[in-house]
Amino acid sequence: MTKQSDSRMWGGRFSEQTDAFVEAFTASIEFDQRLAMVDILGSQAHAKMLHRIGVLTEDELASIEKGLSNIKAEVESGKFEWSVQLEDVHMNIEARLTQLIGVAGKKLHTGRSRNDQIATDIRLYLREEIKVCQQFIRQFQHGLLELATKHADTIMPGFTHLQVAQPITFGHHLLAWFEMLERDFGRLAGCAKRMNILPLGAAALAGTSYPLDRQYTAELLDFTAPSRNSLDAVSDRDFAIEFCADAAICMTHLSRMAEEMVIWSSAQFNFIVLPDRYCTGSSIMPQKKNPDVPELVRGKSGRVFGHLMSLLTLMKSQTLAYNKDNQEDKEPLFDTLDTLQGSLRAFADMVPNLQVNKESMYQAAKQGFATATDLADYLVNKGLPFRDSHEVVGIAVAYAIDKGKDLSECSLDELKEFHDSIEQDVFDVLTLEGSVNLRNITGGTAPDQVRIQIEQCRKLIS
Ligand code: ARG
Repeated sequence: MTKQSDSRMWGGRFSEQTDAFVEAFTASIEFDQRLAMVDILGSQAHAKMLHRIGVLTEDELASIEKGLSNIKAEVESGKFEWSVQLEDVHMNIEARLTQLIGVAGKKLHTGRSRNDQIATDIRLYLREEIKVCQQFIRQFQHGLLELATKHADTIMPGFTHLQVAQPITFGHHLLAWFEMLERDFGRLAGCAKRMNILPLGAAALAGTSYPLDRQYTAELLDFTAPSRNSLDAVSDRDFAIEFCADAAICMTHLSRMAEEMVIWSSAQFNFIVLPDRYCTGSSIMPQKKNPDVPELVRGKSGRVFGHLMSLLTLMKSQTLAYNKDNQEDKEPLFDTLDTLQGSLRAFADMVPNLQVNKESMYQAAKQGFATATDLADYLVNKGLPFRDSHEVVGIAVAYAIDKGKDLSECSLDELKEFHDSIEQDVFDVLTLEGSVNLRNITGGTAPDQVRIQIEQCRKLIS
């Protein structure tokens, strides 16, 4: 006795309907419909290849292509009706195709499994989304170079332990951010390159008995090559984990920048003013302007770290090959993408538009005895061993604290009290300008170096 055809595409061997709760619980359509466009793209290539090897006739291919392009239009216009009964994006699209074009639609799945299909879809999707992340990084970097150019000579305190350490230039600080982003960019590029291998043809896990032309499919979809091992191709999600790890590192960087901007925009620091459009007010305190966007980015780093942990945990201890656990890869991955892209986009626009209070930065640098190391180096140049000069300068700093002034504000006579080798030229190093100009070494904070760095960075990203 043949069974009535089942709405479930795999219903043949089942004698009982799936429990409605289980159906909803196991379905992924709510979140994997986001892959519809790449799923169609993969199917178009698969169909072309099936025609090339003689599995599909010319007419069948033509009607599959037409059907798929209709479905594409339906999805784009929001008219496509997603069904939970059809579980996931792959079966929703395939069922609709068959509904639209009849029996040819049923041939599309020849030599293919949802296992290699989903492994392909995520790669196709992530590959493009990584490019979007990279574009935002580049945009942000261009903005940083613009701002750094304006502030190659702007002096601010450099900190260690958030205590004033030595004067630096603001341009130099911004270029440090540039470097972090440059490594983030490179990591994403490496990740995209490694993942660009075609799983289609791996089928469920063991490959397929149809003589698929995998090389051809790979070329059509712009993959570097077909996967070498079918078990690995359908099972591993390391590329998604790698992306989330890269995203987590990038979010760490953004959270550090965020923290600095929050501190700098406080009344106590008053180094920068954030553009109004990136802040909100308080419903009770009329004077408030809160740095919401940096704070949110700082906070959002948490969910990305969490997603990385989710993916590591879902992959851990999975036996070869595909397991349904992998369906859980999508939500963390998608949310990581949204969070990273949103954060980068916000900063790319906000940071170049910061208003910089040069005077506050300058005064802050003046207050923390930021040039004490320069005085110590000066004494070394006059022949003192460094440890002794460190001692001498320590005593001089204590004196200046007592007098409530900076070292550069002491008179030559006062300074000579600490060591008689101190001459008039000491003021060349004690001033903030003198101090930063002295650090004219590759990678140093001197304005001339900053300008050199800017040129190098510009070439790097042009
Ligand atoms: N929705 C599934 C996923 O996201 C597609 C692959 C399903 N394969 C299977 N054998 N159930 O992983």
